[in-house]
Amino acid sequence: KKEVITLAIETSCDETSVSVLKNGRRVLSNVIHSQIDQHKKFGGVVPEVASRQHIELINQIIETALKEAEVTFDDLTHVGVTYGPGLVGALLVGLSAGKAIALAKDIPLNGVNHIEGHIYANFIEHPELEPPFIALIVSGGHSHLVYMKDYGDYEILGRTRDDAAGEAFDKIARALELGYPGGPLIDKLAKEGNKDKIKFPRAFLEDNSFDFSFSGLKSAVLNYINTQKMKNEPIIVEDVAASFQQAVIDVLVHKTVQCAIDKKVKQVVLAGGVAANSGLRTNLIDKCKPYEIDVKYPSLNLCTDNAAMIGCVAYYEYIRGIRSGLDLNAIPNLKL
Ligand code: KG4
Ligand code: ZN
Repeated sequence: KKEVITLAIETSCDETSVSVLKNGRRVLSNVIHSQIDQHKKFGGVVPEVASRQHIELINQIIETALKEAEVTFDDLTHVGVTYGPGLVGALLVGLSAGKAIALAKDIPLNGVNHIEGHIYANFIEHPELEPPFIALIVSGGHSHLVYMKDYGDYEILGRTRDDAAGEAFDKIARALELGYPGGPLIDKLAKEGNKDKIKFPRAFLEDNSFDFSFSGLKSAVLNYINTQKMKNEPIIVEDVAASFQQAVIDVLVHKTVQCAIDKKVKQVVLAGGVAANSGLRTNLIDKCKPYEIDVKYPSLNLCTDNAAMIGCVAYYEYIRGIRSGLDLNAIPNLKL
């Protein structure tokens, strides 16, 4: 059997990333350039700044990824590229680069859904992992509970009705004047705080619903901060961080375990930037143990945006015979 060499490109948000993979799960290179420093001063990602940065960087990052993998354009079997969801201008940079290589080298193009990529990060981290499993995908843009039955076969069990989990972390961090991105900062502070100090609401929604809602929690935390300020009472950021984080974790963990029980699945995987949260990881493992449900998650650099996870999806599409046309367009609100 001939080996498949995938070149993968990811530019959906503020990471310019290119990866080379061998047979889908072996990462030969995974170059990730984060633009965080360019966006920090604005307190969030500025779409136009992101697009321009991608344009400036994409060619040299492709070259670096090939070099690190010790391959040339002629060794590539196909190209995988994120075409949504994400920022349209940012997506178009990676997509155009991917199409150009596919056309010039006359090799197939595989468009990849970014959310699917987050799930597949687990296949790279855990070479023995196979579906079926429940995936909790929590990032800055999405919060989904998905039943992955087989490669390319998904059932969405729940999604957020308002803010994404990571978005809530970022907004609370901003209100506490901690900086951007908020998730890692709150994670760190929460370790020094008392999670039972402040009672924040947990939105479990209707019985049997696997949807999420974080806007009520966000308002409650913002109210707490404003009230303390008005009363001239101190705000212990460690306690606010710990109490807020626990409220998010309790809902995420409860619903994830419930999905696994419902679907009689013995594996759960975490995905997306918030999967880096240490409290979420340990709480989920604890709550899964009594049911003998195994919990897997990717290492930190595979949790946040990267091209290796995109390449893994592209590989499984390629071997199933799926091909994208060179007229593939960016779809900012692409669904799983
Ligand atoms: O997957 P990702 O890199 O980008 C999107 O596709 O959205 O996720 C970024 C999000 C940000 O909201 C960030 O605050 C959050 O993931 N995040 C965390 C942690 N590390 C990153 N949230 C909670 N705890 C963390 N340790
Ligand atoms: Zn992402």
